[in-house]
Amino acid sequence: MTIPGPIDPPARLLMGPGPISAYPSVLRAMSAPLVGQYDPFMTHAMGETQELYRQVWGTTNDATVLIDGTSRAGIEAALVSLIRPGDRVLVPVFGRFGHLLAEIAERALAEVHTIETAWGQVFAPSAIEEAIVRVRPTLLALVQGDTSTTMNQPLGDIGAICAKHGVLFYSDATASLGGNDFEADAWGLDAATAGLQKCLGGPSGSAPLTLSERAVEVVRSRSKIEAGIREDGDASASDFVRSNYFDLGMILDYWGPRRLNHHTEATSMLYAARECARVLLLEGRDAAIERHRVAGAAMLAGVEALGLVVFGDVAHKMNNVVAVEIPEGVPGDAARQALLEDFGIEIGTSFGPLHGRVWRIGTMGYNARKDAVLTTLAALEAILRRFGAAVPAGAGVEAAADVFAGRG
Ligand SMILES: Cc1ncc(COP(=O)(O)O)c(C=O)c1O
Repeated sequence: MTIPGPIDPPARLLMGPGPISAYPSVLRAMSAPLVGQYDPFMTHAMGETQELYRQVWGTTNDATVLIDGTSRAGIEAALVSLIRPGDRVLVPVFGRFGHLLAEIAERALAEVHTIETAWGQVFAPSAIEEAIVRVRPTLLALVQGDTSTTMNQPLGDIGAICAKHGVLFYSDATASLGGNDFEADAWGLDAATAGLQKCLGGPSGSAPLTLSERAVEVVRSRSKIEAGIREDGDASASDFVRSNYFDLGMILDYWGPRRLNHHTEATSMLYAARECARVLLLEGRDAAIERHRVAGAAMLAGVEALGLVVFGDVAHKMNNVVAVEIPEGVPGDAARQALLEDFGIEIGTSFGPLHGRVWRIGTMGYNARKDAVLTTLAALEAILRRFGAAVPAGAGVEAAADVFAGRG
């Protein structure tokens, strides 16, 4: 075989539902030199990262760590560690990622119960409470922002409902954290997980996770430390967590004072995750969410001004992504391809019932910016016209610019 040249990706503006273009400082952090797993610099950086993510999550949870792997690694670690075989788990499904939670819970041998609402809608808290009363689950697993539909499930009232009925409350905030409100403690979350590649502005490959004391108790009650690193006095539960890699007991002991030698923390991903949180908190959590709100509102105004029909309940849309119906007669995939080839801009296709029906356009992390939004709208207008759609000249850019100027 001929040996390929060094990696040299084309310039891209990633305006899909994630991954998105990373903050330049995150990419720089990832190229910092490696240190040993137990180098004092490394363990200090791990501690700093935990403290940064406590602020990102809005929690004082000691058990705030990173799981090495993409967002679904975080989901799997939380679910496989919290669910005992035979536990009843309730999953309200309002898009693809609700199905993913149900699937992972099923593999963890839960008795899974789902309730569903139409794609493009969210659940009223009363519908979730009614299902909790009926199913009597030990765990509620609920996506916050489902990128497949763009909806943002309100979580503010759910923690109190779970506490009232003695249910653990887990949420997948992969797509929403950093660009939409999330208050782990104030909202009564027992477990939450995310990824870097959406509003946090990093690459995929590290999954921030936080656990309440109550969740830690469940994990600890299922403790099993592998032979070779087990010490006298280490308990070994009979219903231990059935995954070694995702056993949160051992992962917490690696991040905690015991520094148990579990996996080798992915050093460059730790640097990336640390930088994502640092960038967010330097800007200010509320300021970053407001930036996402404004950029999302500008993109929404822009696509509407181009005459595109927005999918779903706009009142419950995430700040950071909008889905638009592909106009009649426009070949969706060919138009997306032209946007990529001629303008270097990526927007997203969609899954399941929406496949071929909508494009998803993101404004998140580093790309929740005026120039990124206006450039995307200008390019989209040109492409739509090229494929025969009647679009008003300049209207998208103008409407979005008005929102950025506070006139929208
Ligand atoms: C809400 C949600 N959960 C989970 C995932 C899976 O993330 P990953 O591909 O990083 O494993 C995604 C990815 O888009 C997502 O949007």
